[in-house]
Amino acid sequence: MGGASGPSAAPLLGKTEGDGVTIDGRTRLAGVIGWPVDHSRSPMLHNHWCRVHQVNGAYVPLPVKPGQLEMALKGLAAAGFRGVNVTIPHKEEAFRLCDELTETARRAGAANTLRFVEGRVIGDCTDGTGFCDNLLAHGVRLEGRALILGAGGAARAVAAALQDRGCEVFISNRTASRAEALVQALGAGTVLDWTDWPSRLGEMNLLVNATSLGMGGRDDTAWSSLLQKGQEGLSVADIVYTPRQTPLLKAAQERGFRTVDGLGMLICQARAGFQEWFGVLPEADEASFDILAQDLARHGLS
Ligand code: ATR
Repeated sequence: MGGASGPSAAPLLGKTEGDGVTIDGRTRLAGVIGWPVDHSRSPMLHNHWCRVHQVNGAYVPLPVKPGQLEMALKGLAAAGFRGVNVTIPHKEEAFRLCDELTETARRAGAANTLRFVEGRVIGDCTDGTGFCDNLLAHGVRLEGRALILGAGGAARAVAAALQDRGCEVFISNRTASRAEALVQALGAGTVLDWTDWPSRLGEMNLLVNATSLGMGGRDDTAWSSLLQKGQEGLSVADIVYTPRQTPLLKAAQERGFRTVDGLGMLICQARAGFQEWFGVLPEADEASFDILAQDLARHGLS
């Protein structure tokens, strides 16, 4: 277990009752802003870490309508929140509203992890790092050529992180103009036509789905035939984690490729925020994984 972030930090030990932590005047507060936000597994994860590390903290879902993010951030900061995660559809607006940004957030063009410090909002983007950390944890080497499907905010964060770790990045998107714009924003990379990428798959070490295809299990893409040209060492990763085994990952597994689902990315991207707000760097360990996996399974999203 790690320690508090500094001598001025509030005591980390909450008063425990049963397996819970009592909320009191010194409870550190954080949460996740989204619209809708009720599907988010982040509260379950952060509150699990609060319990495990006996942090006097609480992490709550914060439903904020589009157009109300600025007001919400001001209110939460004024109410003593230490910071928030920001999810769909607010990540790009959060980026614009931050007073300070990390270099990673600038590269990603989005902010998902905000800190409130003396009236200022400091934004980071942990999606790309979370994605890469999860691949590494699954034994995937970050090298060679990576083909990313999609050109939205998630694709940008993943592409930037892979480039920063030395991968040669290829982007393919249903709407070609968005892929072109993404490559321009990244300052490097190659656009592949949406109908052409399957014929280039043999050159790739990594295939990443960063589109919303597969979310909720709805996806009638003929993935198995699209994956036909993949070479033996290909790894296939999906950022979608509802369900964990997306139609793409099922097809990739059947073809014998190494697959990595999106749940580990969710856990890995959350670690940095937890450390900022609560003073402990939690592990992306089996227990964290199990608690979310069991919840997804309960909801038929295995
Ligand atoms: P995010 O910021 O979470 O990445 P987004 O900006 O809405 O979300 O991007 C969604 C991605 O999924 C886009 O790349 C989108 O492709 P378009 O740019 O052509 O819209 C992709 N996507 C969504 N539905 C798709 C589908 N049915 N087939 C192919 N791509 C799809």
